[in-house]
Amino acid sequence: MMDDITQIKSEVIQCTKCDLAKTRKNSVPGKGYQHSDVMFVGEAPGRSEDMQGEPFVGVAGKILSDALKHAGMSRDSTYITNVVKCRPPNNRIPSCIERESCAEYLQREIQVISPRIVCVLGNTAFNSVLGGSEITKNRGKIIRKDGQLYFVTVHPAATIYRRELLDVLISDIDKLSRIITELKNGKDIPADIEHTP
Ligand code: URA
Ligand code: SF4
Repeated sequence: MMDDITQIKSEVIQCTKCDLAKTRKNSVPGKGYQHSDVMFVGEAPGRSEDMQGEPFVGVAGKILSDALKHAGMSRDSTYITNVVKCRPPNNRIPSCIERESCAEYLQREIQVISPRIVCVLGNTAFNSVLGGSEITKNRGKIIRKDGQLYFVTVHPAATIYRRELLDVLISDIDKLSRIITELKNGKDIPADIEHTP
């Protein structure tokens, strides 16, 4: 059967593959434009997202929306999701088991949406998706893995307590917007890091 976003969404809503299903109010499937040029990947839903069943609708979501607007991008033209689709209690970092249980959904989202570039937000997503660490050292970089382009930046929530990171996020999203324009114009973008399996 052909996979699509509606199918993935309905599976996520009903999913009980890990223990986060027991404590969530709502699963939080990805949301946005099916044919988007860009997909944003955060860590996991927080309190607002768990209550509303939608990604990045709380304070971190407002910061992300503002950064998109600053870069001249409309949030509606993007697709936004998380590594883990259910809220970890007290917003703790999702465990390896939780991330592994949930990984197939993100893989399928990337396959179905087929974005020109995937923007990875923060250390947990960087580690889960690309095996990376030290986000503040690697942010702003373009990575190619298995033929897919990725762009790495800080998590919007991290900018709340580290004001200096807000300027970093805003300039990184501006850079991402320019990269997307170049990709749409058929320009070949060299990666800063090539992941060879
Ligand atoms: N933080 C995340 O990583 N994801 C959300 O959806 C909201 C906050
Ligand atoms: Fe399923 Fe992912 Fe939710 Fe765990 S976090 S129950 S794997 S949707």
